[in-house]
Parts: sequence; structure tokens; C-alpha cells
Amino acid sequence: MCGIVGYIGTQQAAPLIVSGLKRLEYRGYDSAGVCIISDSGARIEKKAGRVADLEKYVDISSMTGTVGVGHTRWATHGVPNDVNAHPHTDQSGSIALVHNGIIENYLTIKKKLLNAGYTFRSETDSEVLAVFIGMLYETLQDMELAVRTALSEVEGTFGLVVLSTHEPDMIIAARRGSPLILGIGNGEYLVASDAAAVISHTRQVVYLNENEMAILRRDGFSTKTIENVDTRSVVEEISFELEQIEKGGFEHFMLKEIFEQPTTFHDGFRGRLQIDAGTVKLGGLASVADKLRAAKRIIITACGTSWHAGLVGEYLIEHLARVPVEVEYASEFRYRNPIIHSDDIVIAISQSGETADTLAAIREAKLKGATVIGMVNVVGSTIARETDAGVYLHAGPEIGVASTKAFTSQLCVLTQFALYLGRMRSLSSEQGREVALGLANIPAQIRSILDRSEEIRSIALEYANVSNFLYLGRGYNFPAALEGALKLKEISYIHAEGYPAAEMKHGPIALIDAELPVVFIAPKDEIYDKILSNIEEVRARSGKVIVIADEDDTHIHTVANHVIRVPRTLPMLAPILASIPLQLLAYYIAVERGCNVDMPRNLAKSVTVE
Ligand code: G6P
Repeated sequence: MCGIVGYIGTQQAAPLIVSGLKRLEYRGYDSAGVCIISDSGARIEKKAGRVADLEKYVDISSMTGTVGVGHTRWATHGVPNDVNAHPHTDQSGSIALVHNGIIENYLTIKKKLLNAGYTFRSETDSEVLAVFIGMLYETLQDMELAVRTALSEVEGTFGLVVLSTHEPDMIIAARRGSPLILGIGNGEYLVASDAAAVISHTRQVVYLNENEMAILRRDGFSTKTIENVDTRSVVEEISFELEQIEKGGFEHFMLKEIFEQPTTFHDGFRGRLQIDAGTVKLGGLASVADKLRAAKRIIITACGTSWHAGLVGEYLIEHLARVPVEVEYASEFRYRNPIIHSDDIVIAISQSGETADTLAAIREAKLKGATVIGMVNVVGSTIARETDAGVYLHAGPEIGVASTKAFTSQLCVLTQFALYLGRMRSLSSEQGREVALGLANIPAQIRSILDRSEEIRSIALEYANVSNFLYLGRGYNFPAALEGALKLKEISYIHAEGYPAAEMKHGPIALIDAELPVVFIAPKDEIYDKILSNIEEVRARSGKVIVIADEDDTHIHTVANHVIRVPRTLPMLAPILASIPLQLLAYYIAVERGCNVDMPRNLAKSVTVE
């Protein structure tokens, strides 16, 4: 959510910042801006729209100077327009700020500033902070002190970067609730909200901690808490390669990421799965193994697609380990004073590792004494660092806003977790071996589905102009139906609902007419006959039936308008295979409708505000 890139060094800052912003655009993309500090002062250019729109509006190379900052915005306060775009300045125009997060008490501060005669141009909370820092600077005459003093009065969240013509050879960065990393180059320093923006300059990074500030100068950097206590920073290496965040010949990141799944899924179990022993080795959980063995209950908390993965996790864990599981939206969990016992295990699932609600949920769980485990994709992210133990997804950077490969990797890790827990309890090595073998076969099975992507595309083209879609599945495939519907609505803006197939008769059946496509996920499992009855109910009302079915199902084509065939697998692994055609269906429909699939309207990849 909102991308930030700051630079201080020997090179021209503006082109470097703009290329970094492009790599961060998936975080927010409704407006973009850059501020460069030079001998002639602070020059700010900002524009509603994408970074490319900013480049059309201003010749970036004319913004000369070796210190600067840029921002891509995902609007919270104020519509996306040129004025509300960042950077914002103080009243004198000599202090510039970019901000990610929400200043919750901005109205109180704004009132004080208005009473003191200050004025505002934008509707944003961020401008209030810039003006506030400017006011403090007038008396303190010290930028670092002014920022620190302002931040001590601020309630809410921020990842922010401040520059000033008063002290032009310095960048101040600070974080609370919104990630920031420092890139340590050779005689140059970067600060960014995401490693993707710095990797083309340096692999050496420092992850700022909560409530930490960094002061970057031309000859070095220091870190301290916002309360001014020096901190020791650990330089770490970025764990992915530059090519992983490039499109690699695909039209969209989303398509690339869909096609990466044979590899990313394999990376999720490589070195972990022990097929002969029917078990799995999860090094990141060794420190909490005793707690897991004694756990009476597991609570899974997450948002969005990760929450859907959690629902599959519930079925998996209850099935393989016989431990009761509850799945909670993190946004609900955090505020409802949940009952948590010290022998509860809370699992937070998150692609980004930065989702504000999920982070708050794990803090609540920790406060109440639970052991908290992270299943996170982004290495070094806040959730990964704040959990007691964890299992990384190893899906590599996911850039497309609609999550695809991270979802299947979440299912890969959740299956292994359930297996690990099951083998600690009553699951036999024989039963474990069956699951492990099933998992090991998945990459090749995903590949065989991807090989038939053209078939899925031709079905998609038939339905690109409909207004509604219904997705139905039962058991393990109910969450897959939810996820299929979410994918479609996220990127095509078609209204889509996912439902447990049997619940259709309690409401959604009223929607069915000859215009409504209904996607069924119907592998030949023990409830296959039941779902066939649901299909008949749709047919009886002239609905269009698209079925994801086993490749050896010889009956299904007689009751469906379209059949998308997937290889046979264990029922518990079926949602993994089902999600591949669902992703492709959504993708091809969205492309046909002319939608920007990688950056759908109003969404952001990493939601670091409540
Ligand atoms: C946003 C993204 C979704 C994602 C959700 C949770 O809404 O657009 O794709 O599923 O956040 O994100 P997380 O990073 O915690 O998995």
C-alpha cells in the first residue's frame, strides 16, 4: 500500500526514484510524485494516475539533484488527484514528506495548526504532518528533532520519508506499522517500502523495526528509536533475484505468476517433504514443537485470499491431525476481545507479511498468551519477524495484485503443517505417505492443466460480457469456490459469489436464469453425487454450467455446458488443482474486458492500513 523510494548518493536521484516507483506500483497506483532537493531548492512534481502519467507530464531528467524521494499512492484521505498526491510540503515549501499509513489524530493536529494560522492545500492526513513538522522546525531549528517531536504526538501508522532544504544532505525515514527498508549501496543509500525498489542497486538491506527512525547522509546512516535511543541495525541480503520481479515475456505479472506455479509449489515442499517416512520437516517450527503437540485448538487468522487458504487449512488440520480449528478474519478477531488460552496456537497466513489487520490480530493473540505461527511469503516482513515461529511459502515475489501463486503455496504449506501435526498425533506413516506422495505429484499436475490454458481461454471468451457469476463447491472445494469468485471480481469487476453448493437453495438459486454462469468444482470424491444434484438444480432453471471435473469423469459432459478437466488427486488436494483453471478463467475474462489485471481499480497488494 503506497510505494516509497528515497535516494541520497552520487547519481541523479529522479530517474532512479522513478524506476524504483515503477517496481512498487503494485502497492498503490492512483497518483505518483517526486521531490528532488538541489541547490535551487525543493522541486516537486506530482500527478494523478500511474507513474507513466507523471513521466508524460514532466521530463524527469530535468529534475536534477542527488537527493530525493518519490511516492505512489493508494488513497485513504482525499480523492486521487494532483493536489492530494505526495510529496506534501510544509507551509514554507522547504520540507517535503511522503507518507504511507494513516495519521488517526490528524484532525486534532490540523485544528491546532489552523488556529495558529497555517493553511492546507490537500485533504490528506499526510499534509497535516508535513505542516506540523514545519511548524516545529521554526522553533527547534533541527530537522531530526522536529520530525521526532511530531511523531511523538502522532497516533496511527506511518512509513514516512522527510527531506528538507534546511538540511539538504540528509533523509529522515521512520516507521510505525508500515514497512520501510534501507538499501545500503556503495556511497549511496536508498529507503523504500519494498525490497523490489532497491534490488537493482544493492542487495544489502536493513529492515527498519517498529518505532525506528533512520537518518541517511551521504557518508553513512544511523538508526534510532523515535524516542532517540540508538539501535543496532543488521544488514541482510535480499533473498530474491531481479528477474523474479520482471515479467519475463508474459503479458502480465498475473499470468507469469499463474504459470510459475509448478515451480513455486515445488519450492514450497522442497527439502521439507519426507515421502518414505510419510512426514515433513519444518525447521521453522522446531522451537514450538512441544506446544504444537500439546495444542488443544488452532485459530487461523488472515485476510482476503489468505483467509480462503485458511479455510482449506481448517479442513486439512481437522482431517489429518484431529485438532479443532477456527478460522477468523483478522479484522474481526483483533477487535472482538477473542477468548484465547495459553495452549492455543494462532496461525497467521499472509502473502505480504504486512497486512495491518493480520498484524494486529497476532499482536492481540500474543498479548493473550497464545503461541503464534506465521505462514508468510515475504522474507523479513513484519509478520514473519513478530511471530514466534513460522514456515515461509517460498513462492518468490508476487507482483500481480490478485494473489495466485501465493495461494497455492499457502495450501502447500498448510497441507504440510497438517501432516506434521498429524504425524505428531495419530496419523500413521502409511497415511502420511499417501498425502506426501499426493503433494509431490502436484507440480506435474499443475503443469498439465496449464498446458490446456487455451481451452480455458475459449470458455472465458464466451462469458466475458456477463454481469454475474456463481461459484459452487463442497467440502474442501467450498473455499476454492470462494477464491474463484474473489479472483473474478477483483480483476474483471464482474459480480461473483462463492457458496457451498448445498447452500445454493437457500438464496443464490433465486439468481439463476439463462444468463447466469455457474462454476462447479466437482471432483469424484464422496460428495460427487450430491454436487451432481446441485448441477441438475441449476440446469432445471436454465443456468449455464461450467464444471471443473476429473479428467476420467465420463458422465459430467452430459450435464455441463463446459467441462474443464483436471488430474485426479486426493480430495484434500483438489482445491489446489481447481484453483489453476479458476485463476485462468478470471484472467482471460478480465483481459477480454480490457481490464488492467495487474493493477485492478481500488485494490492494493499489501494493505498496511486498517
Ligand atoms: C489484499 C490483496 C489480496 C490479499 C489480501 C491479504 O487485499 O489484494 O490479494 O489476499 O490483501 O494480503 P496478505 O498479504 O496478508 O496475504
